[in-house]
Amino acid sequence: MKIKSAEIVISAVSPKQYPHDNLPEFALVGRSNVGKSSTINTLLNRKSLARVSQSPGKTRTINFYLINKEFYLVDLPGYGYAKVSKDDRAAWGKIIETYLTSRQNLKEVVLLVDVRHEPSADDVMMYDWIKHFGFGKIVIATKLDKINRSQYAKHFKMIRQKLNMEPDDKLLPISSLKRLGMEDIWDSLKGLLEHQEVIGEIRPIDEDEATE
Ligand code: GTP
Ligand code: MG
Repeated sequence: MKIKSAEIVISAVSPKQYPHDNLPEFALVGRSNVGKSSTINTLLNRKSLARVSQSPGKTRTINFYLINKEFYLVDLPGYGYAKVSKDDRAAWGKIIETYLTSRQNLKEVVLLVDVRHEPSADDVMMYDWIKHFGFGKIVIATKLDKINRSQYAKHFKMIRQKLNMEPDDKLLPISSLKRLGMEDIWDSLKGLLEHQEVIGEIRPIDEDEATE
């Protein structure tokens, strides 16, 4: 995917702040620290457009990134951080639920899991839930650089089984650190965009954007 432009449009706390332009949207969900923001940065070839967590579990906003003025990548707050209070957890649930149940232009919700570990009970619950809404055709396994090549097949199988993925659901292994697997993500997202009308003007690439 050629990234001609990428910008954060809003860090939203309430639905009123969500973008109103009705462009197609892809959301990333997963536990805190799994690598959602890093994946967005790597996909976009930016070092720090999406803030990589200093303090996990603190993100309470839904961050909308507009790409090529054509579609959005959406970074949702992570779950499963142990030190979060019960009230904060409830607030998190409300934010996610409101977003996922009300967003008409949402094309796919991509679950991210850490390739090293068996998906947690929260991951399984989240995956069941997004499947219920007709999403979850793509799962990303992050931090591939952390396991040995000889372990790949075993870990992919473990993730597919634990999440109860269907054979035609895609499991895409990636590493933001080593920049592996990014084109596979773009190919999958492009497939979902295919029949979309392209709305809006596309600005030319900046010199420094192109070289970043
Ligand atoms: P929250 O915003 O808390 O939900 O976390 P997040 O899912 O956005 O995770 P984030 O991208 O902030 O990454 C968490 C940590 O994992 C950071 O220290 C990253 O540097 C590290 N990390 C992310 N991707 C990779 C990867 O592919 N390989 C390795 N080795 N580390 C990674
Ligand atoms: Mg993040």
